[in-house]
Amino acid sequence: MTEDRKRSLRSQAWFARQDKMGFYYRSFLKNSGFPQDQFEGRPVIGICNTWSELNPCNSHFRTIAEHVRYGVLDAGGFPLEFPVSSLGEVTMRPTAMLFRNLAAMDVEEAIRAHPLDGVVLLMGCDKTTPALLMGATSADLPTIGVSGGPQLRGVYRGKSIGSGTNIISMSEQLRAGEVTLQEFHEAEGAMNRSHGHCMTMGTASTMASMVEALGVGLPENAAIPATDARRNHLARMAGRRIVDMVREDLVLSKILTHQAFENAIRTLAAIGGSTNAVVHLLAIAGRAGVDLTLDDFDRLGRDIHCLVDLMPSGQFLMEDFYYAGGLPAVLRTLGERGLLNKGALTVNGQPIWENVREAPCWNSAVITPFEEPFKPDAGIAILRGNLAPNGAVIKPSAASPELMNHTGRAVVFETIEELHERIDDEDLDIDETCIMVLKNCGPKGYPGMAEVGNMPLPQKLLRKGVRDMVRISDARMSGTAYGTVVLHVAPEAAAGGPLALVQSGDLITLNVQERSLHLHVDAAELEHRRAAWMPPTPHAERGYAKLYVDHVLQADKGADLDFLVGRTGSPVPRDNH
Ligand code: FES
Repeated sequence: MTEDRKRSLRSQAWFARQDKMGFYYRSFLKNSGFPQDQFEGRPVIGICNTWSELNPCNSHFRTIAEHVRYGVLDAGGFPLEFPVSSLGEVTMRPTAMLFRNLAAMDVEEAIRAHPLDGVVLLMGCDKTTPALLMGATSADLPTIGVSGGPQLRGVYRGKSIGSGTNIISMSEQLRAGEVTLQEFHEAEGAMNRSHGHCMTMGTASTMASMVEALGVGLPENAAIPATDARRNHLARMAGRRIVDMVREDLVLSKILTHQAFENAIRTLAAIGGSTNAVVHLLAIAGRAGVDLTLDDFDRLGRDIHCLVDLMPSGQFLMEDFYYAGGLPAVLRTLGERGLLNKGALTVNGQPIWENVREAPCWNSAVITPFEEPFKPDAGIAILRGNLAPNGAVIKPSAASPELMNHTGRAVVFETIEELHERIDDEDLDIDETCIMVLKNCGPKGYPGMAEVGNMPLPQKLLRKGVRDMVRISDARMSGTAYGTVVLHVAPEAAAGGPLALVQSGDLITLNVQERSLHLHVDAAELEHRRAAWMPPTPHAERGYAKLYVDHVLQADKGADLDFLVGRTGSPVPRDNH
C-alpha cells in the first residue's frame, strides 16, 4: 500500500492524529493488547457480528469471526469485531421483521461512527442478512458478506426432514390425528441437529444465495454447511480479501448495481427462493439508490425455471445442494442461457461470470438442467387487480397447479386472533373451494408484517384430506412454507387498501397466468363500504414500534422506514471534543 493510500484510509482520521484526541483513540484500544504499529496505516476491518444465544441459527458465529480475523491478519489488516442487534426468527415476538429496520440502523450507524475502512458482515438467520446489507449499503464502505451456512439435513426415522417445511406438515398431521405427540417431539430433536440456519431453501438460504448472486459474497457462500470446514475457509478468505478491497477502494455501491439486482432476481427464480426476498431486495435496492420495482421481479423471473429440487418446493436440502455444485452451478446455467449479466462485478474483483463459467454440477437430480427443469416457469409472480392495486406476490413453484386459476367464495378473518379463534370451529362455513382472506397483518397492521400468510387449514378439511386452499393476505409467509398463498397485498388493509373492504361471501378470482387478483364487487358497493371503514386502533403509542408504524413503507416498496431510504456514505463524523 502506498504512503498516500495509507494516509487516505478513513481510520487514519482517528489514529494518525498526534494530539490529545489521537492519544485517546490509540491509548484506549491499546488496553486490548494492540501495539503501536497497528495504528500506522493498516486497514481497519470491522467484523460485524450477529452472534447471540437468543439466535440459535447464528450460535457458531464466534468461530466464524475468528476465521475472518485470521484472514484479516494474514493480509496485514487490523481486525476489530463488534456486535450488532441479532434477530432470531423463531424466538422474537411479535415478529423479527418488525426489528429488521432497527437492526439496519444499528449497523449503519455503528459502521459510520467508528474508525473502520472495511467491513465483513456475519449473517445467517433470516432477517440478519437484509438488516446488515441494508445498513452497510447506506454506509457504503468496502464490504463482504459471509453467511453462517445452513444446518446439516434433518434425519427422522431414516428420512430427510427440512426445517420449517416439515414443522408445518407435521403440525398439520398432528392436528389431523395422523402423528402422535411422541413422534412430534422425536422429530424436534432430529430436525435441528447442528449449527447453522434453516437448511431448506427458506428465507435464510435464499438470502445467502442473494448475497452470492449480488456479488457481495465470495463464490460458494450460499450453500457450504455451517459445520463444514470449508465454511471456515471461506470466512478466512473473506478476511484476506476485504483488506485488498480497502486498498482497491471497492465500495459496496460499485457492486450493488441494477445489473446485480437483475442477477439476484433471476437467481431467486432459478432456486425457487423465498417470497421474503422480494421485500428484502427492494429494501436493499432502495438503500443503494437502485430503482428496482415489483414489476422487475415478474419481468425478469417470468421465463426462468426452478432448477433446484429443494424443500419447500421439492425434496432435497441445502447440504445436498452444496454437494451437487451449489449456487455457482445454477449461475453457470443461467449464464449459458444468456440470463446473467456476466459483467456484474463481485467482491473478489472478478465479474460474476469469471467466478462461475466452469462451475461443475455433480448431481443433476438436485440441480436440474435448464431443458429438463425441476419446475418450469417458476419465478415469483406479481399479481395486480382491484384487490391489490399496488401488487401482491405468489410463489408458483410452491403452489398447487389446479388452484392457479380459481374463483371462490371469500371467508374473511379480520385479524390473526380471529383466525386462530375460528379456524377449527366445526360450524365455520367453509369448504375447499373457498378462498381464505386474512386482513391487518401487513407492515402497519401487525405491525411488522408477520409470516402468517400461509394460514392453517380448517381441521375439518384436513380430516377430509384437503392439503391446500387459496389464501390471500397482506402478510408474509415463511420461506420454508408452501401452498397457493397470495402475499404482500398492497396497500395493506390497515392502510385502507381494498383488502380492508372484502366481506365473507364475496367472490374472488385468482389467475396466476394472467397475473390478476380480482374482487367481484362493483365500484359503487366498494365506495359504500369504504365510507363505513374505520382504521384499526394502532398497536403502539410509543417507542420503536410507534416510529415503525408511523414511517414504514408498504411491501411493494420494501417495508423500509421512509427516512432510511438511500445512503449517506461514511463521512468521518465530527470529533466529540
Ligand atoms: Fe433462523 Fe430459520 S429460524 S434461519
